[in-house]
Amino acid sequence: MSRLYVFDTTLRDGEQSLGITLNVVEKLEIAHQLVKMGIDVIEAGFPASSPGDLESVRRIAREVKGAVICGLTRAVEQDIDICAEALRDAEQPRIHTGIAVSPMHMERKLGMTPDQVIEAAVAAVKHSKRYVSDVEFYAEDSFRSDRRFLVQVLEKVIDAGATVINIPDTVGYATPWEYGDLISYVINNVRNVDRAVVSIHCHNDLGMATANSLAGIKAGARQLEGTINGIGERAGNTSLEEVIMAIYTQKGLYNVDLGIKTREIAATSRMVSRITGVPVPQHKAIVGSNAFMHASGIHQDGVLKEKSTYEIIDPEVVGVPRNSIVLSARSGRHALKHRLEELGYQVEPDRMDKVYSSFLQLADQKREVFDDDLHALMGYAAANGSTIKLINVSVATNGSKTATATLTLEIGGETVTDAACGNGPVDAVFKAIDRLVGSEVQLVDYSLKSISQGSEALGDATVKVRAGDKGLIIGRGISTDVIEASAKAYVNACSKIRNGSLPGIAGA
Ligand code: KIV
Ligand code: ZN
Repeated sequence: MSRLYVFDTTLRDGEQSLGITLNVVEKLEIAHQLVKMGIDVIEAGFPASSPGDLESVRRIAREVKGAVICGLTRAVEQDIDICAEALRDAEQPRIHTGIAVSPMHMERKLGMTPDQVIEAAVAAVKHSKRYVSDVEFYAEDSFRSDRRFLVQVLEKVIDAGATVINIPDTVGYATPWEYGDLISYVINNVRNVDRAVVSIHCHNDLGMATANSLAGIKAGARQLEGTINGIGERAGNTSLEEVIMAIYTQKGLYNVDLGIKTREIAATSRMVSRITGVPVPQHKAIVGSNAFMHASGIHQDGVLKEKSTYEIIDPEVVGVPRNSIVLSARSGRHALKHRLEELGYQVEPDRMDKVYSSFLQLADQKREVFDDDLHALMGYAAANGSTIKLINVSVATNGSKTATATLTLEIGGETVTDAACGNGPVDAVFKAIDRLVGSEVQLVDYSLKSISQGSEALGDATVKVRAGDKGLIIGRGISTDVIEASAKAYVNACSKIRNGSLPGIAGA
């Protein structure tokens, strides 16, 4: 058995491509969870792309131990210098440099000849080696390249010191047999391939990223790249959790060992969804809320007789505990603590009072508190380091479209109240918050969904706002009152802007 290394690029290919700007604190939270999940390599960002990305990579390199920390660069000296500086404090730094190798990219995008591309590739690897010993080279758009040229580039970069060679299907064009065949071709034809790890990096434009990655592994690749929940540009990247669990369920097929703690998968997926504001579809493999539900009578009957009739994965293996008790306002703190632990939350004794009192507030509004409610409660508690707090919100409507909202907020310890009119209650609430906070933000997206079942379900509001040129900022809020949930979400986003914890403004 050989080791398959797992390389997570949620914070680079995932985050950057969504146009979302996560702040340093949010990126650190995800990076620590990735280490807990056993990820081998964390691509923390593209430091030359913005001061914010530089700061995030720097902080992750300094504070996150137990994984290789990697930064992306173009095959440009200045990018590499910035990346090396950002990675200076990393325990195990890696520079991920590269250039496009397909005829279309070389000609149309780079305006370079194949010889110039080879020269730039070799120079980039050599320059990176001046700073770190671990250098990964990506041959962008490998899948659409001329194979003989690809082999030539790879041989030269390995000779220059590349330790990992990444063969991306940048545009998600491949089918599994073709991608597997490309990886076999590289392994069989690159003269010095034994001196480097072959890495696979697939995009999901045709819905085949998971299948293509598995084909690449079967062909002998020993590093898998992807993101949590498959987030990323266009149709996204390979969903790491899908490939990991495909290998877990059919180990004999792949002959590789993984260092992944599968029980952390569900928690990691929830965290990435909460922080990026990208929802996980209910039916998503492995991490969707319906992934382990059996609805039809025949299936339920089968599962009750023998689980394996319709269940190929024990949900507990990915961190989804089976549900035996339903919590309500009558549940004590012991029952709450027990369930939270089953769901993967460790609450320190000094925080338990606060968590229990939030739970009771929620249980007073809802008859039954489901696991999804608890996840929302705990996720909100983690995210809610707001310096602005919602104290009260009331809205008056008179049957016409216009509504008036009166808001009381606590801002930096001071209690302030103001009112505003708007086109409907949510608009009025947001305008009143703008007046109180004095922020100039542009609302880009607002969504509201219910968590768990029933008319008394919790409303989960997400806002995406833009402040200046700082990218999108996500705010989340939950409440059984949807107006209150919306107000909390908007306050949460304004608080992040005000904290100055945005990349490019100041370190958090
Ligand atoms: O998809 C791709 O080719 C990439 C490279 C920059 C690694 O993300
Ligand atoms: Zn990519």
